[in-house]
Amino acid sequence: MANTILIGAQWGDEGKGKIIDVLTEKADIVVRTQGGNNAGHTVYLGKKKYVLHLIPSGILRRGKVCVIGNGVVIDPVSLVEEIDGLLKLGVRVKNLYISESAHLVFPYHRELDSQREILKGKNKIGTTKRGIGPAYGDKAARTGLRMIDLINAERFAGVLRLKIKENNEILKAFGAKPLNYATVHKAYREAGDRLKQYVTNTVVLLHHATRRGDNVLFEGAQGTFLDIDHGTYPFVTSSNTTSGGACTGSGVAPNRMDRVVGVMKAYTTRVGEGPLPSENPEIADMLHAMGREFGATTGRPRRCGWFDAVATHHACMVNGIDDLAVTNLDGLDTIETIKVCVGYRAGLQRLDYVPADIELLAKCEPIYVEFPGWQQPTDKCRSWKQLPVNARKYLKAIAKLTGAELYIVSVGPAREQTIFV
Ligand code: GDP
Ligand code: IMO
Ligand code: MG
Repeated sequence: MANTILIGAQWGDEGKGKIIDVLTEKADIVVRTQGGNNAGHTVYLGKKKYVLHLIPSGILRRGKVCVIGNGVVIDPVSLVEEIDGLLKLGVRVKNLYISESAHLVFPYHRELDSQREILKGKNKIGTTKRGIGPAYGDKAARTGLRMIDLINAERFAGVLRLKIKENNEILKAFGAKPLNYATVHKAYREAGDRLKQYVTNTVVLLHHATRRGDNVLFEGAQGTFLDIDHGTYPFVTSSNTTSGGACTGSGVAPNRMDRVVGVMKAYTTRVGEGPLPSENPEIADMLHAMGREFGATTGRPRRCGWFDAVATHHACMVNGIDDLAVTNLDGLDTIETIKVCVGYRAGLQRLDYVPADIELLAKCEPIYVEFPGWQQPTDKCRSWKQLPVNARKYLKAIAKLTGAELYIVSVGPAREQTIFV
């Protein structure tokens, strides 16, 4: 399996958690490299549902090493809650390593996230309100605190006092309630003491692992069009969600990476604001009526649309995707005629890439081609040959339009509902 980067090729929630869980069987180590608890990765084992926010989805397979890399932003209190939640569900949280360089998310980040959204009014981003943007902002401004600061009790007490003082002034300017130092300190001290056992230099750990020839799986969070550089800015998250982020967020060099797997749904979804050219409320209604497409982190209904091959082709370009994992094929089972967006039209202009200018993207009208549906259930299919002919034709067509090899087809949330092509 070698060193594999797995990323979302759309707007997040592509089913990365499920595919990571499947691929972890052959991996030794699973590493999260960016994002924070804005992520929600769902894995079903039998009837049990697990939603992972900060801990790599590899934790559900015994004996696998899980790493939270330097590029992740960590809310320590929420991470402890996640660990306790897993323990309650009978999952052993062993072999977890957390980078000492990972930046911390504080309550003032969460509050600022909310306040900025209120200030933006109808132009809001629709963030998860987990404080992710302000935490990465502090990192870039060189005013952040890191895991290494948290586990050093004396150092932490001093720097936190200053941070609370400074941020309380900002919160007051927003008209928000200032934070109480003692309350924040107590919660973070407790979390820091719990997490200390896991904190280490993960760059060195991963260096030794790759030299040994271990198979490392890099678990992307969010998706290509939420990338801070390559996404639909400003309606993006604050980290590099594309494949390059796996290198900077882990300290494993690009020439140690062997391949990139792009996960995408057989249709398109997005949660939060921002343009979505192939959006289609009818598909959204259909999927929501089936109880599908509600956010794993915030519970918000996801916006839905037809498969956008312009976007996934663009994702192939910026991520260097070798192999495709197409999930949620079964979501299209009942549709008579399926549309695929193969180009954007903006006035007289035709575009075959996702424009960086958000105003231009908002004006883009999708150009569709149609495919006959298969109108029969696929969730019990276990091999390529068992898939209906029209489903196979559809999958081949979207892979060709995207420009990478079809590798996996997923027809349900369970491990066994996975077809290796
Ligand atoms: P992630 O953030 O990319 O890990 O994706 P989420 O977990 O947020 O959302 C994907 C949803 O689709 C979850 O509820 C998964 O259990 C579910 N899922 C993944 N693959 C399939 C599939 O092939 N079919 C169905 N029906 N559900 C799937
Ligand atoms: P996973 O890993 C889908 C979206 C938010 C919002 C924007 C910015 O489960 O695919 P943020 O809180 O990051 O500042 O919000 O990004 N967003 C996601 N959408 N899946 C995610 O993660 C997301 N994480 C953030 O909805 O539009
Ligand atoms: Mg998700």
